[in-house]
Amino acid sequence: MLKKLGLSMFLSFVLIGLAACGEDTAGGGNNNGDDSNSDSDLTIGLAVADLTLERWQNDRDIFVETAEGLGAEVIVQSADGDEAEQTSQVENMLTQGVDVLVIIAHNSDSIGSIAAEAKAEGVPVIAYDRMINNAEIDAYISFDNERVGEMQAEFLVEQVPTGNYFLMGGAPTDNNAQMFRDGQMNIIEPLVESGDIEIVGDQWADGWSADAALEIMENALTAANNEIDAVVASNDNTAGGAIQALTAENLEGDVAISGQDADLAGVQRIVEGTQSMTVYKQIHLIASQAAELAVNIARGESVDFDEEINNGAIDVPSVLLDPIAVNADNIIETVIEDGFHSFEDVYSNVPEDERPDYDGE
Ligand code: GAL
Repeated sequence: MLKKLGLSMFLSFVLIGLAACGEDTAGGGNNNGDDSNSDSDLTIGLAVADLTLERWQNDRDIFVETAEGLGAEVIVQSADGDEAEQTSQVENMLTQGVDVLVIIAHNSDSIGSIAAEAKAEGVPVIAYDRMINNAEIDAYISFDNERVGEMQAEFLVEQVPTGNYFLMGGAPTDNNAQMFRDGQMNIIEPLVESGDIEIVGDQWADGWSADAALEIMENALTAANNEIDAVVASNDNTAGGAIQALTAENLEGDVAISGQDADLAGVQRIVEGTQSMTVYKQIHLIASQAAELAVNIARGESVDFDEEINNGAIDVPSVLLDPIAVNADNIIETVIEDGFHSFEDVYSNVPEDERPDYDGE
């Protein structure tokens, strides 16, 4: 037993050393023994699927700032889109003795096993934005993701009530991708049944990659002889890839296309007329509320939940925030007035005499 313990302790130190190379301390805390923040009474492990997309950088920064303001230390690690790496990083956080885990899952299913391990070790697990399936986790905080999909489809069918629709799904490993699609089909299905809309293609962009979306859209346009009237894209990054393919065929702005996240590139496309809409999710709300939730749960304080959502194992206590549909007509009173992007940044590619009046009030 001692020998085995020695080996496992040795492996733990190796894991800690290895994990440091994947550790993201930019905007996040760290847990190096010699410079740990001795003032904090608890340590949060924040495991992020990847930090490539703009929105997750915002999530991380606001989460860390809020948590540190509440006296917690935060270890931030990004798996850079690698499923095995995320599992290893979470295992290492447990070895390092974090008091609570907050996980933005790369794979909503496979991460469940390590979440169960954390449960067995008495470490609470919070699923951030993306559900963790088939595991007895402690909480889930996200947006109403089926409603996100409904908003995307509602805007498109209002613009294009009849015609050929292409469905551009997100990462198949992301539980949210299916929820967006479920919401989209709540709106589109009846119009397919009535014969108003025909779905001419349905693909899923691995890793939410813009390059994957570009290739999918190129193939879809070829297969449909460019006769596509609307693209139901589930986020701005994949919408951007699809719009690249549309642009190559001089179709940008003629084909309606949805998005999500209100990325700067996405909202610029909206005011420039190549993207129809996005769904804005107030990152400052989810990130700050998730940090408060993590601190309260770690300290054993009571927490209010809106509802419970079943994840295949249990009904998970959940907080669901409201998404906001954004298009060129309301971008000022939403994304800009909320301080998510500045008027100058959003309209930077629009000639000044073509911009709406805005005095910044
Ligand atoms: C989803 C998330 C969306 C979308 C996507 C890409 O899980 O809810 O906001 O951007 O990931 O990261």
